[in-house]
Amino acid sequence: MLFAALTLALVLRSEDGYELWLRYRLEANQARRAEYASFGCMVIAPARPVLNASREELVRALAAISGTGPRASTGVGSAIYIGLRNDAAPIAALVTREEIAQQGPEGFVIRAGEHAGHRVIVIAAASDAGVLHGTFRLIRELQLGRSVAALNLSESPPIGRRMANHWDNPVRTQHVTGASIERGYAGDSFFKWGELPDRIDPRLHDWARLLAAMRLNGVVVNNVNTAKRGLEGWRLITTDYLPKLVAVAAVLRPYGVRLFVSVNFFSPVLVDELPTADPADPAVQRWWRQKAAEIYAAIPDFGGFLVKADSEGEPGPLKYGRTHAEGANVIAAALAPHGGEVHWRAFVYDRANGDRVTQAYTTFAPLDGDFTANASLQIKNGPLDFQVREPVSTLFGAMSKTRQTLELQITQEYTGHDKHVCYLGPMWHEVLGFAPHQGRTVASAISAIAGVMNTGDARNWTGHLLAQANTYAFGELAWTPTRPPEDIAAEWAQLTFGRDRRVIDVVTAILLQSWHAYEDYTGPLGIGFLTRRGDHFTPDPENRAEYHGGDVHGVGVDRTVATGSGYAGQYGEPWRARYESRTQCPEELLLFFHHVPYSHRLKNGRSVLDEIYVRHVAGVESARGFVRDWETLRGRIDDERFEHVRIRLAEQVRHAEDWCRAVNGYFEKLSGVSPLLP
Ligand code: GCU
Repeated sequence: MLFAALTLALVLRSEDGYELWLRYRLEANQARRAEYASFGCMVIAPARPVLNASREELVRALAAISGTGPRASTGVGSAIYIGLRNDAAPIAALVTREEIAQQGPEGFVIRAGEHAGHRVIVIAAASDAGVLHGTFRLIRELQLGRSVAALNLSESPPIGRRMANHWDNPVRTQHVTGASIERGYAGDSFFKWGELPDRIDPRLHDWARLLAAMRLNGVVVNNVNTAKRGLEGWRLITTDYLPKLVAVAAVLRPYGVRLFVSVNFFSPVLVDELPTADPADPAVQRWWRQKAAEIYAAIPDFGGFLVKADSEGEPGPLKYGRTHAEGANVIAAALAPHGGEVHWRAFVYDRANGDRVTQAYTTFAPLDGDFTANASLQIKNGPLDFQVREPVSTLFGAMSKTRQTLELQITQEYTGHDKHVCYLGPMWHEVLGFAPHQGRTVASAISAIAGVMNTGDARNWTGHLLAQANTYAFGELAWTPTRPPEDIAAEWAQLTFGRDRRVIDVVTAILLQSWHAYEDYTGPLGIGFLTRRGDHFTPDPENRAEYHGGDVHGVGVDRTVATGSGYAGQYGEPWRARYESRTQCPEELLLFFHHVPYSHRLKNGRSVLDEIYVRHVAGVESARGFVRDWETLRGRIDDERFEHVRIRLAEQVRHAEDWCRAVNGYFEKLSGVSPLLP
């Protein structure tokens, strides 16, 4: 009895979410605990930075989960050996050279076995980074309470470059008020550039651990907007900032993560007052070469640059009559001798040029073959802008001679900020598995993936605790693009809340319904952009007719080749024909591709208008259901996290009701037809 009470108290210890899913808690199952404890926290590795970090993390996890401290003896016994094949005899004995080679530069093999009469586990890889990835994988097994007696796992990531993109503004100016993170909802930026390099905030180390736990290998630390409206992120590559970058790179290095920064295309002008930034000008080329050399002299493993050019007020090569490829290549050429990369964003549109969703393709597809090998085109998942539902961008797989980076948005700009639960794993999974052209899926077309981060200085990193599931899912899908999002959700729930089956089931169910719920009460059927310009949160259909196409007769935007903007024609078959046809177009995208009369019948027999009404009401009902379901967990989750989520879910219901009223009211007025609802 006393034991039960103690266990409960232990399990329900108040938590603030700071640890994310890296919660290392005492294993409740005694036999399992003993199994873990038999390794005596002996983690043996040569002293190299990444292996030191790996060992430290594994010892920390083992000690907490098994409840034992490190064994005193340094003699041989049961132990975990981590490293390259030649680093330790047990590794060489248990894993062949071929097995390691098969896992590629960043993969790993984890295997349990016997060596010299002792039980051992080895984590073997072709690089220290691979060992680190394997370490976090093994830790997860321990957190999940699985037996390690017969462990035999090998994994390798098909996508070579996996990046977090922070949209943090490093310099505050009088012109920029409010949040220091563009589209960031979880507090302020935690980079504190003013304190660097003298003081390194401890949070930066935990941030580097987080990136490593997500098994990422690159991070962009500043906003893609570097100069517009008074932003000064372009300053990060000035000589003054270099020591600060050096300090950040040093924090990241032991975690196998390379530092990248967003740069302004006009840097030669902004930083050193050159008269031009024309990529064809030899002085400009020299400037980029010198800048790259200066950075690499201080940070030899620097990753490279992310560039938003000729887009939303950020300048670019078009000003000089040069193409995007010519612009990207001048920077890529400067980075190439050092092994650096340019990720060049494809998010370009000009309101004067008609339907914006067509423009990335018409701008970039003709440039296929013009980009150098270390330049990658960074493309958002959809052609519009991170809406709750969009088709997949036509650029993926359309440029076989150009490297491509998929950009996903972890921060919930259009999907409820940090106020609504909206688990994006299922959406990303769909995107990665979709083939816009000739059976070539996005996952197979890309060589890099980037996620716009949802972290800030909020104590729990993400504002809404359940938004951590998105951070987790991004890491998982970047590593294994085919992993089912349901498994990811359930695993995250368990790592975050423990092993109470009911808790896992309820949290997982809420997560898995949340995307569709949000879609229902905001904009079903592929209707785009109903949010207020600026905040991208408040319903504002009145001022968004350009995107939803609503008028007195009908709704939706005609993007067919026959009578519309022609976007459907940018797809390969079968999608071109399907999207072109009103009857074959998947209904969740109907209004993205077609303007239809309100009376248009859907497969369920309802008119489009009734469907809009019904779905909004259903979405609100789902949100109410989340509150009811969450209530059943009272007492099964610590009060602090329980209350935090409860309050957010209640707020979500109120906001969902606002959405329902605003959108249904708007279409009622516009169409003159009232909902046939109870
Ligand atoms: C959206 C977003 C901006 C962002 C831009 C981009 O338009 O609202 O804040 O800068 O995308 O991705 O460049």
